[in-house]
Amino acid sequence: MAEIGKDIGKAKELLEQGELVGIPTETVYGLAGNALDENAVVKIFTVKDRPRFDPLIVHVASLAQARQLVESFPDKAEKLATQFWPGPITFLLKKKGVIPDLVTSGMDTVGIRCPDHALTQALLQSLSFPLAAPSANPFGYVSPTHPDHVNAQLGDRIKYILDGGACRVGIESTIIGFENEIPTIFRLGGLSVEDIEKTIGPVDLQLNTSSDPKSPGQLKSHYSPRKKVVWGVLAELVERYSALKIGVLAFKAQVDGVELENQLVLSPTGSLEEAAKHLFGNLRVLDKKNIDIILAEEVPDIGLGKAINDRLRRAAAE
Ligand code: TXA
Ligand code: MG
Repeated sequence: MAEIGKDIGKAKELLEQGELVGIPTETVYGLAGNALDENAVVKIFTVKDRPRFDPLIVHVASLAQARQLVESFPDKAEKLATQFWPGPITFLLKKKGVIPDLVTSGMDTVGIRCPDHALTQALLQSLSFPLAAPSANPFGYVSPTHPDHVNAQLGDRIKYILDGGACRVGIESTIIGFENEIPTIFRLGGLSVEDIEKTIGPVDLQLNTSSDPKSPGQLKSHYSPRKKVVWGVLAELVERYSALKIGVLAFKAQVDGVELENQLVLSPTGSLEEAAKHLFGNLRVLDKKNIDIILAEEVPDIGLGKAINDRLRRAAAE
């Protein structure tokens, strides 16, 4: 198992040696390595069992550091960064040569973001290089929102996890690109479409739901527990699967007809922020229960609800 602690100096030392470290962010935990060191980047793909065609996000301490890594910062990206960085939004921007092609899977854009977590901010500021970090889970599984999640799955492959407690947002960053006149959101995430549009006007959504590896990050089946997940209206699902031993992931309230101990509620007050924060942890708990199937409730499709529904839809994809 990896050591879990709050020692930024130790994390820094390991990263400078080309090793990987589990790092907290406001969204999910990352599996971090020196983004400018190809050997460290190879380790990330290996430890995560991630196919090389799926590019990594590069994490920076500031907008100033981001500028050094990309050809240009379009006005709309600049507006969003000024308003929401550090925070849960990732920009796809034309990369400079310093970023290894391995990081971007050969593409000419790099995903770049400034995470909002005090420990990781301090770490990034102490380093002379940015950090490549995918979510710290085996490829295809649910993202980790607590150091114990990282340790349970990758603890035998890395030495250290920086302990930043439970993630505040709980769902991955929103990914947006600026190749077209109208910016395109490629992944719904911790910053809502509504907040983005308030700042830069209309955006397009291109949420690929294919199994085509040319659509990185948007593989149809992703974020999946081992158990089968079905997503929709709970009362209907409970009836349809009544022959099975059911686990329920409800939005606000438990439902009739299923043992209470096998029902988890995301937010009793109906807060989408709270629901996002508890989503992945609760999926992990259900995945360990003695049940045949997880029935997940569709949440209101507004604000963070869009990202929650997106993750549940993908978790439910075959
Ligand atoms: O919140 C987050 O974004 C977390 C934390 C750790 O920062 N990171 C994260 O990384 O979710 P990951 O690797 O699990 O997901 C990043 C997604 C991938 O699916 C990848 O395909 C997409 O971003 N991506 C990265 N760079 C890209 C690029 N240049 N073009 C298109 N998609 C890209
Ligand atoms: Mg991921």
